[in-house]
Amino acid sequence: MVHIHPTLTIKYILSIVAFGVMVYFITSCIQTYLVYPTQTRVSIRLNRSQLFPAVTICSGNPLRYDKYLIPLISYIKTHNLSSSPPNITQNDIYNSAFNLMIDLINKNKFEETFSYGFQLEDILLDCTYNGYNCRSMWIKTLSPILGNCYTFNRQTIDKNTNLFQINQINGNVQTLHNGLIMTFYLNIELYFPIIEYGLGLTAILHHPNEQPLIRYAGKRFSPGFEHTLVYEKSLTTYLGSPYTLCTQIITDDMKALYNLFDNNTEYVYSETVCLELCQQAFMYEQCECIYPIYFYLNYLNINGQLRRVRICTPWTSEYRCTIEARNRIANNPNLLQTRCPHCQSQCIIHKYSSDLSSLKGPSDSQKNYYKKLILSNSTIPIKSDFSMNSSYYLDRNYLKLSVIPLNSYETIYEEKATYIWSAFISDLGGQSGLWLGISALSIFNLIEYLHRKSQIIRLKRKAMAQVHPCETESISNNKY
Ligand SMILES: *[C@@H]1O[C@H](CO)[C@@H](O)[C@H](O)[C@H]1NC(C)=O
Ligand SMILES: *[C@@H]1O[C@H](CO)[C@@H](O)[C@H](O)[C@H]1NC(C)=O
Ligand SMILES: *[C@@H]1O[C@H](CO)[C@@H](O)[C@H](O)[C@H]1NC(C)=O
Ligand SMILES: *[C@@H]1O[C@H](CO)[C@@H](O)[C@H](O)[C@H]1NC(C)=O
Ligand SMILES: *[C@@H]1O[C@H](CO)[C@@H](O)[C@H](O)[C@H]1NC(C)=O
Ligand SMILES: *[C@@H]1O[C@H](CO)[C@@H](O)[C@H](O)[C@H]1NC(C)=O
Repeated sequence: MVHIHPTLTIKYILSIVAFGVMVYFITSCIQTYLVYPTQTRVSIRLNRSQLFPAVTICSGNPLRYDKYLIPLISYIKTHNLSSSPPNITQNDIYNSAFNLMIDLINKNKFEETFSYGFQLEDILLDCTYNGYNCRSMWIKTLSPILGNCYTFNRQTIDKNTNLFQINQINGNVQTLHNGLIMTFYLNIELYFPIIEYGLGLTAILHHPNEQPLIRYAGKRFSPGFEHTLVYEKSLTTYLGSPYTLCTQIITDDMKALYNLFDNNTEYVYSETVCLELCQQAFMYEQCECIYPIYFYLNYLNINGQLRRVRICTPWTSEYRCTIEARNRIANNPNLLQTRCPHCQSQCIIHKYSSDLSSLKGPSDSQKNYYKKLILSNSTIPIKSDFSMNSSYYLDRNYLKLSVIPLNSYETIYEEKATYIWSAFISDLGGQSGLWLGISALSIFNLIEYLHRKSQIIRLKRKAMAQVHPCETESISNNKY
């Protein structure tokens, strides 16, 4: 009969209970670790050499009446778009205004399309950035709704071209105000009469490496005022897999979109652009053509292949088909999820929050100054009676827009892992040490002990084998 001491029994029971508790806590540690918990750390960082944002502006109206009317009339005639041929009414002109634009884009005639809209020289009187003359520092792009747009301080492929920082000041000129200061003569007398458009200017601040989403988030500015936009910058970063899903992958169709008008840019991934491209691809599969509103595009990823796509003719059955397709995908989150799983959020989000205030303008002295400037030496197209009636025209067309940083601070929202692997390991160690006294050293001791034991056993067997070789052989034979 083996006799077990009562304290030994208690010891066994206790160690089994302790083992159970340890397993429970270690399991919950593992579970917590596998959830990849995060928290957002907010910090405010001073950076006097912070980048100035890119600024994109578009005229309030996409087309110049004087340039577009004659080509449009001949287009209406050749394509029989008139409702009462051979007469062409004002209504025909409004209804077909987009047909010619879309036809030109489908035929890759971008230069011609640009030529019908407002050029920067048609509207920009003055531009300074911290004392630098920035009249010629703009890059052209084309928006389906807003026509020609221009971007200042955009990131190019060439890493050596420096972007403007907020503390960069041109010493030659003493400036009253810092920041980007633009003066416009909007030329609203030349606006093409389409009912969707008001009078003014659209502008947006964005990071230099972001495609401007002007149609989504552009701000509108009315003529007859001096607007001041004071902005503050914030930055949100996400950790990415396995913590939060976010991506930076630029797909082929996104690259094609970014390079459509200008292949010298280096824009980053954008979730909005990704979703738009994905929806347009769905529309293309249903209708064999697309209907872009946010940006012109001519390549899409269809079934994994980059394909040249055509824009639908407006107001036809194929156009109605795209509207139905868009409604279907936009109203069905599950469909969007299965079609566009690659459209995750961005890992870095730059945000410029701004406050707007305005003064009435122009003053009489400004009128005198700009009248002289416009009449003497400018590229601005003006009405024949401008010199006699300049006050009237300047009241209608003058607009000043200043974009000014509030300070040199940026607010950073940074996603941080709250349970990193070193904390996880120390929790494992803590739990096992607390409940069973297991530590790396004790495990090492155990291994050493077992190793020694096995060596001793092996030595004993060797010694026995030398004494009775036949016996061990018979034992090993029995094994098989
Ligand atoms: C400040 O901003 C510049 C960009 O102009 C950047 O290169 C630099 O790393 C930033 N400095 C700090 C301390 O974040
Ligand atoms: C032009 O359109 C009208 C109706 O819109 C139609 O009656 C006419 O036959 C068309 N002419 C041509 C040459 O297509
Ligand atoms: C076209 O205009 C002329 C003169 O304005 C008018 O007499 C004629 O009836 C119009 N034709 C149609 C089809 O409306
Ligand atoms: C970039 O655009 C220019 C002019 O449109 C063209 O000549 C050039 O081949 C393009 N480069 C690339 C890499 O697409
Ligand atoms: C006229 O334009 C030229 C070059 O564009 C410039 O050098 C000159 O100073 C301008 N004159 C006036 C009066 O603005
Ligand atoms: C200026 O032009 C507008 C529009 O053409 C007209 O209503 C106004 O009477 C003109 N004023 C003068 C002083 O000519």
